Amino acid sequence: MRWSEPGSGAHLLVTGGAGFIGSCFVRQSLVADPSLTVTVLDKLTYAGRRANLAPVESDSATAPRLRFVQGDIADAAVVGPLVAEADAVLNFAAESHVDRSILDPAAFLHTGVMGVHVLLEACLRETDRAQRGERPEPPRFLQVSTDEVYGSVAEGLSREEDRLAPRSPYAAAKAAGELLAVAYHATYGLDVVITRGANTYGPYQHPEKLVPLFVTNAIDDQPLPLYGDGLQRRDWLYVTDHAAAIHHVLRRGAAGEAYNVPGEASLTNREVVAALLERLGKPWSLVQTVEDRRGHDRRYAMDGARLAALGWRNRVGFVEGMAAAVDWYVANEAWWREARSGDWHAYYERQYGARLAASPGAAPEG
Ligand code: NAD
Ligand code: DAU
Repeated sequence: MRWSEPGSGAHLLVTGGAGFIGSCFVRQSLVADPSLTVTVLDKLTYAGRRANLAPVESDSATAPRLRFVQGDIADAAVVGPLVAEADAVLNFAAESHVDRSILDPAAFLHTGVMGVHVLLEACLRETDRAQRGERPEPPRFLQVSTDEVYGSVAEGLSREEDRLAPRSPYAAAKAAGELLAVAYHATYGLDVVITRGANTYGPYQHPEKLVPLFVTNAIDDQPLPLYGDGLQRRDWLYVTDHAAAIHHVLRRGAAGEAYNVPGEASLTNREVVAALLERLGKPWSLVQTVEDRRGHDRRYAMDGARLAALGWRNRVGFVEGMAAAVDWYVANEAWWREARSGDWHAYYERQYGARLAASPGAAPEG
């Protein structure tokens, strides 16, 4: 398999490769394996930024091995020829923000369901071609999924064989995408693997998400809108570990299987916010209690034994990762100010305007 070993000269199609985790995957994969070539297919929604690929597009060691195509994964005419050239397809493309899925679910279904279907159909055509001897091997399809497909877990750890019980339109679209991929494996024998990653943080994350939103608001001494009691619990995974774990599953994962990718720290939102404020040297008094997210999942927690059995372990602990993340936003103000321009203001007002106006005030500490 050309995608299975470093140095094998594989060509990867990375959809959503201009987003937060996808661009990290592209940046680190091109550097780690000088034989690798990558095509990024990205629609460049509000969340996708060509600037996220600048480090590899401006480096002569990596730039010739990277091609960027702007387009929609639900567009079969664009997808077909790109999949035909690829040894493996990694689908990072998604509408990824739970709050936006509560405001406007349609785009989540377009990309998360129809888009995945179009990618699978293209992989099926290539699998058939391989069977007829028209290409050396069928493509492997890796669907990047999330711990949110398990829904809120009151206690214990989610295992891969657990029932999927998504509770937001975002999570339901992600579960649908996975189920379609597994169905194409069972029905047509497609080579499919799935990763279910935990809450990811680090550089280049769009500032609508908790960590970059709170870091950038705090830099500007603006209120930090904490939903409800702030005791919701997430498992925090540094982005370089998430991206490298995905590459590990691409190479070592068994066809038809899903792999949990847990983080390094199970923390409440309050604990995460306290950590980022401490790194920034900003006071807790910036934190405002606001109306909770509708249907807010209380806790995610996954068992990572299946991935560990493939020989994977995370490298970045939470304290180190949070310091690196906070410092990156401090040092890259132009990047996040650009992300917080244009449509950002309308979104911010819609999501937070009434919440902040009705806030009972500073959240109690502790
Ligand atoms: P992101 O929102 O930063 O990036 C998504 C990218 O997909 C953007 O570049 C966007 O332009 C692109 N895109 C959206 N719709 C598209 C379409 N129809 N066609 C082509 N490109 C399209 O998201 P992220 O945080 O990097 O997440 C990447 C993947 O990882 C997603 O599938 C998400 O569900 C999953 N995931 C994210 C996390 C997390 O904590 N961020 C955790 C687990 C899994
Ligand atoms: O668990 C994996 C998921 O993590 C990914 O699949 C999603 O793509 C990713 O966005 C993330 O989803 P969350 O909903 O957990 O992340 P978010 O950053 O939106 O919120 C993290 C927690 O912080 C959650 O409990 C809601 C809370 N929160 C978030 C925002 C944006 C607040 O209290 N206030 C906020 O303003």
